[in-house]
Amino acid sequence: MKNIILIGFMGTGKTVISKSLAKEFNAAYVSTDSLIEKQEGMAIKDIFSLKGESYFRQIEKCVIKEVCAKSGQIIDTGGGAIIDPENFGVLKENGIIICLWATPEVILKRTQGSKNRPLLNVENPLSRIIDILEKRREHYEKADFHIDTTSGDITDIVARILKLLDSIFPRRMNDEKGVKLWSSLLTRLLRSSDAPVMIINLSGKVLFANDSAKNIFCGGIDHCLRRYWWNLIDSEDKGATIENNFKKIILLKMPFKMDLISRCNNKEEIVHWFFTPINKRNKIFMLAVRRSNEDKTKKIIDTFSDVNGEILDILFSSSHNSEPDTARHSLRVMALAVALAKKIKMSDEKIETLKMSALFHDIGKLVVAQDILFKDGELNEVEKVEMKQHPAWSADMIRPVSFLASILPVVASHHENYDGTGYPNGMKGQDIPDGARIISIVDMYDALTTDRPYRKARDKKSAIEIMKEARGIKLDPELTDIFLEMLISNEIE
Ligand SMILES: [Fe+2]
Repeated sequence: MKNIILIGFMGTGKTVISKSLAKEFNAAYVSTDSLIEKQEGMAIKDIFSLKGESYFRQIEKCVIKEVCAKSGQIIDTGGGAIIDPENFGVLKENGIIICLWATPEVILKRTQGSKNRPLLNVENPLSRIIDILEKRREHYEKADFHIDTTSGDITDIVARILKLLDSIFPRRMNDEKGVKLWSSLLTRLLRSSDAPVMIINLSGKVLFANDSAKNIFCGGIDHCLRRYWWNLIDSEDKGATIENNFKKIILLKMPFKMDLISRCNNKEEIVHWFFTPINKRNKIFMLAVRRSNEDKTKKIIDTFSDVNGEILDILFSSSHNSEPDTARHSLRVMALAVALAKKIKMSDEKIETLKMSALFHDIGKLVVAQDILFKDGELNEVEKVEMKQHPAWSADMIRPVSFLASILPVVASHHENYDGTGYPNGMKGQDIPDGARIISIVDMYDALTTDRPYRKARDKKSAIEIMKEARGIKLDPELTDIFLEMLISNEIE
């Protein structure tokens, strides 16, 4: 689960509401102020008076970074934490931000008598509250959601937050869209794996096979699906012996190894297979991986500890026809992005990150409503809001997959514009990760040269002209020049 972060002025109920939410979600409750007090060995008011506010803010920044390295927590932040843009960026990147607010009069009532509120230790605390609230207004407004805690008891407020989270979390695992998203992520990970992978049901039929398995089976992928896997292998070993062995072993629900001779295109090869049972909600499947790659692939499956039977069903039933447009677009963006990255001599390590980022950058689009995604015309303001959520949704899905952590900043910022007019954070120029600036360029080119519901694909020449216009505004000017030059010289198509 993504972190849920509560921000807001003192006296808006952050602590008590955070604790209640933590109970509801069975999640860890973390208070950044408490961590600071523990670390410094003194109360916040003493840190302010003995060491000063700027010292406190420095410590706060470090604590926020540390806390945000983990997920699935309910985080209660200090009232002024989000004024620092870096803090806000880290929090935004790692959770859903809910801002609690209340009227100044109520805040005063709730904070009166507390000795641990250094900022309100003045003659006229009400005007101080009004003053600070006004100064912080623009920062609080950047939160994902706002909840007024002026009236209603804690139970009501918590219920309102839970309802809100229910309605805006299409990515929650129980939700149909979330299931679709997860299955798509898993499919793409398995497909992009260079390890040949099959998923087999208990009777031995192949439910899923990735592209890398092509080299092993003579008939190609489509030929494999829903057939008994031992019949796919042109081997002297095939037939009753393998079938019997498989059925005996599968009853034990234990991992096992099997070496088979495979002949394809007159080439003979010994293929070492490793079969691992996947047991999800009483549905058992066998994951068959070529043995040299077993660790890598098992890691992918293990990552999806929350994958349930329903997701596996969707994955297997639509393993070759799911979301072909987004998948095609992602592969095309990946190829162009890598070409541009190689041209600017990006390091191999960064190119690997870029590849994965390109593959998953738009995965969040799968939860955008179909009628918005394929609308035959311009989106209205409400539709735009939903569409603009997709980079954050892509990032949400990727976040729990630890080995994809490096691609998060690129995926989350692939719709930021060079001049700062993009979304979700209005990042500008070189602050936008270079991978995201590359994806933005090739993404635009692919979009222009592809048929859309509301217009035909443009030819290369007119696409180049449009991209020249976007140079320095939406797109990084230097990278755009290099990319357009590659197109003009036919280095890429
Ligand atoms: Fe996108």
